[in-house]
Parts: sequence; C-alpha cells; structure tokens
Amino acid sequence: MTPTVLTTPARATPGSVSGFANDVRHYLTQHPRQLPSRYLYDDLGSALFEAICRLPWYPLTRAELRLLEAHAREVLDAGITTVIELGSGSGDKLSALIAAAGSRRGRLELHLVDVSSSALTEAGQALERLENVRVVTHRATYEIGLGEFGLARSVGGRRLALFLGSNIGNFDPPGRDAFLASVRSAIDRGDALLLGVDLRKPVRDLLLAYDDPLGVTAAFNRNLLTRINRELRGDFELDGFTHRALWSEDSSRIEMHLRSNRSQSISVREAGLDFVMGEGEMIWTESSYKYDPPEIVSMLKRSGFSVRAQWIDAADRFALTLAEAV
Ligand code: AVJ
Repeated sequence: MTPTVLTTPARATPGSVSGFANDVRHYLTQHPRQLPSRYLYDDLGSALFEAICRLPWYPLTRAELRLLEAHAREVLDAGITTVIELGSGSGDKLSALIAAAGSRRGRLELHLVDVSSSALTEAGQALERLENVRVVTHRATYEIGLGEFGLARSVGGRRLALFLGSNIGNFDPPGRDAFLASVRSAIDRGDALLLGVDLRKPVRDLLLAYDDPLGVTAAFNRNLLTRINRELRGDFELDGFTHRALWSEDSSRIEMHLRSNRSQSISVREAGLDFVMGEGEMIWTESSYKYDPPEIVSMLKRSGFSVRAQWIDAADRFALTLAEAV
C-alpha cells in the first residue's frame, strides 16, 4: 500500500511575508524591543535547533526521549486512533514513541503541526514509512493547526495530543493557560494530552544549555537577524549583535536576547522600519519558562485535565505528564 501524506492548503500563517513583516514592525518597536520566538525556525533555524538537541549541554531532548521510550505503552494505549503533535519538528520523538509502543496498536492517523515547512516535509516522509499510519501535515501555528485538527474528525476512537520538548516554556503564564484551554477544547472528554516540560534546576546548568561553548545557540539566535535581512530586506550587521542568555529568578525563565554592541541605525525595508539601537540595547527573542512538577499538575487541572501519570527524569530534571480531558 502506498502511504499518503496529506497537506492542508497554505494560508496566512507566520511563514507568509506579510505576517512576518507586520510582526517585526510591531514587536521591534515595543519597549523593550522583541521578536516572537517562532520566527527562529526558518530552514536554517530548524537545522540549528536540531543541532542544539545534540549538544551535551542541552539534555532536554535526550531526557524526554528516554521517558517516552520507557512509558510508550501507557501513553499510546490500544484505544488511541489519532495523534496530533504540536510543534512536531523532526518527528523523531513521535517515531520513537510509536516504535516503542510495539506492534499491538491499530491504525493511527497522525497530524503534524509545525511552522517550518522543511521540518514538516522531512517528518511527514519519515513517519509515513511506518506501518499502518496516515499522516496529515499542517504548516501552521499551534492555534490554526488545532483548529484544522478539530474539523478533521475522520475516525472514531480516542485522541492523543502531544506537546513535547518543553515548547510550553515559550508561553508566558497567561498565554500558557490560554493555550492549554485551546488544546482542551480541540479534544473530547476522555482524550489524552502528553506534556513534556523542562524542570527548574541549578542556574549554571540552565545558562550552559542556552549559551553553549560551541556557539550553536548563539548562531540559532543571531540567525533571526539573517532571516529578517533576507526575507524583509533588513540591513542588520551580524557582527553588531551578541547572543545573551539570562536567568530571571522572579519569573523562573531563561531569556534569550540579542545585544547591540554599538550604537547603530537599522532599517528593515519591507517592514517600513528605520530605528537606532544604542550600545547595550537588547532585542528579546525568546523566553523558556522552567517549572516544578506540582506546578505542571495544577496548570493542567485549571485547564480541564486530570493527571494520570507524571514521570520524571531525575538526572536531567525533565518531566513527562500524561493527562486526561475531563
Ligand atoms: C524548542 C522552545 C523548547 O526553549 O529550550 C533551545 C528552544 N532555545 N535553545 C527551548 C531553544 C534555545 C527550545 N524550545
């Protein structure tokens, strides 16, 4: 049988130039200046993120994979027919989960949601090689992908939503709660959510994870300026900006910034922007909130879930929490 990869039609997602230009204009003129972290993931940015996942100083991905493989049968139980992964990236975790769950499962419909078309294509191709699966890709933000998923109810059985890799850490607390509520409303009572969350740990470990000695994270962050230069005719000089990772104890988050090394003027033609940055001025490009295990349980409860299991990797301080929609 030939496997099928269905792709939903293109629409005005953050991949479109006008959405990007509008966001760049809006966020770069805020105080402090900022850029939404989802724009880090163009083709090169996605490849750099995959490289980050292999760094010895960024243990999240390996810790999560160990937990997924250890608990795959409980997560992907026989009643599940449909899986949606929000931010599927390379698709490696979903492949590993399915492989570790073994052969007793029935047919699976897999929905992959990601803003990176290159990552989505590769993930779709890798997953369609598995037996007895149908893959649907959504090149979209989480919100739009969830909406499309809600409409595409083609089979019966229970559904499993995957939100892995501590992607939830990118949301501020109100955005996080709104996001969990939107996941809850896209699935039915009895359906499941598996959430992978990085835990609070010693600050020196966190700083190494987000400012690695090889400079891969710095390249990932600074690539955002390259993307603006290329896609929106910007004139950022790359050597004028340095990667910074900061820990905020009050907010329990790592922040990535791009620090202007000198006073410089910048223009982004397609965003209609001309501005000056002072020496030491920063552009805030990402937040990664870190949590303790009980906080994960309470955020899920508040959003209409009850927790079935929580597994913790003690060595690297990472949690996988399985919840049921109530
Ligand atoms: C993919 C958003 C979970 O916040 O740890 C890695 C992205 N940023 N290194 C994270 C990231 C810097 C990552 N997430």
